[in-house]
Amino acid sequence: MKTIKLGLLGLGTVGGGTLRILQDNAEVLSQRTNARFEVTRIAVRDLNKPRAVDTGDIALTDDPRSVVDAADVNVVVELMGGTGLARELVLRAIENGKHVVTANKALLAEHGDEVFSAAARRGVQVAYEAAVAGGIPIIKALREGLSANRIDWVAGIINGTGNYILTEMKQPGADFDAVLRQAQALGYAEADPTFDVEGIDAAHKLTILAALAFGMPLRFDRVHTEGISRITADDMRFADMLGYEIKHLGIARRTDAGVSLRVHPTLIPKDVLLASVSGVMNAVMTHGDQVGPTLYYGPGAGAGPTASAVVADLVDVARGMTCGETVPALGFRETTDLPVLEMEQVECACYLRFLAKDAPGVLAQFSSALADEGISIEHMHQEPCEDGSGDALVVLITNVVPEAAMNRAIRRLEALEAIDGSVQRIRIETLN
Ligand code: NAP
Ligand code: HSE
Repeated sequence: MKTIKLGLLGLGTVGGGTLRILQDNAEVLSQRTNARFEVTRIAVRDLNKPRAVDTGDIALTDDPRSVVDAADVNVVVELMGGTGLARELVLRAIENGKHVVTANKALLAEHGDEVFSAAARRGVQVAYEAAVAGGIPIIKALREGLSANRIDWVAGIINGTGNYILTEMKQPGADFDAVLRQAQALGYAEADPTFDVEGIDAAHKLTILAALAFGMPLRFDRVHTEGISRITADDMRFADMLGYEIKHLGIARRTDAGVSLRVHPTLIPKDVLLASVSGVMNAVMTHGDQVGPTLYYGPGAGAGPTASAVVADLVDVARGMTCGETVPALGFRETTDLPVLEMEQVECACYLRFLAKDAPGVLAQFSSALADEGISIEHMHQEPCEDGSGDALVVLITNVVPEAAMNRAIRRLEALEAIDGSVQRIRIETLN
C-alpha cells in the first residue's frame, strides 16, 4: 500500500480537526484510497502552545518553509490562513512538485488564477473543498455533479459566523459583541472577524462559486459587499412581522448582460427553504438549466465539518496520485471573461425603514419621492415611536426596481425634512 506523506501548515481549528480525522478514520481512509496517509511535518507559529490533538512523534516546526521544501512531504495542507505568507508557501510547494490542499478562500479568491495556473503548469493538484461552506461538498457538486448544466445562478448562506450571529440576535436582549465572541470561541470566525461580519469572507467564497458556476476568472474585486453590522433589532422584528427572515446571502447570477456578484443582508420569505437555515449551518442553492433548482445544506464552519472537507480533498489527491484521475481545479478547461455588472444594474425589491414625522401630508411626500423614480409601495407599516418625539418608524416594501432608481429614491427620501436620519435599505430575494 502506498504511503502519502503530508506536511501540515497550521494546527489550529482546522489543522487540529484534520489531524484528528486522519488519526480516527485511518482505516476507512485506507479502504477508500488504497493508500496510507502519514503526517510527517507540521508548522505552527507557537511551538509552546498546548494542542488539543496528539502529535505523537510528528516533527513540529515554526519554520513553514521547511515543510514545503521537505523531501518527506508529498502533499502540503495549507491551514494557516492569510494571503501573504500562505501565497508564497503554496506557490513554493507547487514549484517543488507537491500537491496542495487548502481551506484558504481568501488566498484563492485573491490569487487563485495565479495558483491554479502554476499548479497546471507543474502538473500538481490544488484542492480546496473546505474553502467554501465548510462541510458541504459544494465544490464537487458544482464542478462535477452539475457539469451537464449551464448554471443560471448560485445563492447561499456561506458564512457560518454571520448566520450564527443573525440567528442568536433574534433572542431578546442579545448583544452583538457577546454573540460574536461565542462564535470565535466555537472556532467559527476568521482570525480577523470583520471578514465574517462585513461580508468579506462571504465575498471570497462567492468569487470561487461564481468561477466554478460560470467558468469565469476569479473576480473578488468586482463583488458588491455589505455586512450585517448595520442590521438592527427593529429590522429583525419588522422582517419577522412581514413574513421574512433576514439572511446574509451571497448571490451570483448570470444574465444576457453579464454576471452580478453581490453579498448583502437579504429579506427572504419564510417559506423559502434558505430562510430556515439557522446557527452555523450554511446552505447553497443553485439553478441549472437542465436540473432546475438544487439545494445543499450543512455546517459551514468549525473543526470537524471543515476538516471533513480537507480530508475528502486528501482522498481525491490520493486517488489522483494512485490512479491518475484529476479534474480541472475550477471545472473548466478554458475560462470566459464574462462582464461583471455594476450594482446599479441589478434589480431588486427592497425593504426601506426610516424615521418620519408623524404628521398629515408626510405619507404623500415619501410616496411621491418614490413614484418619481417609478417605484411603487407594495406594503407599508407605520408605528409611533415610544420616546414621545412625535416621530414614527415607517417600513415600506417596494416593487422590483433597478438599483440605480432605488439609490436616487433613497437620496430623495433622505433630503425630505419630514424624514429624520438615513434610510435603511435591505434587498429582498424570493430565489426563483
Ligand atoms: P487558526 O485556528 O487560527 O489556525 C491557524 C494555524 O496556523 C495555527 O496553528 C497557527 O499556529 C498557524 N500559523 C499561523 N501563522 C503561522 C506562521 N506564520 N507560521 C506557522 N504557523 C502559522 O485558523 P483556522 O480557523 O484553523 O483557519 C485556518 C484556515 O482555514 C484559514 O484560511 C481559514 O479561513 C480557513 N477556514 C477556517 C474554517 C473554520 O471554521 N475555522 C472553515 C473553513 C476554512 P499557532 O497554533 O501556533 O498559533
Ligand atoms: N469564518 C468562516 C465562517 C469559516 O464563519 O463561515 C468557514 O469558512
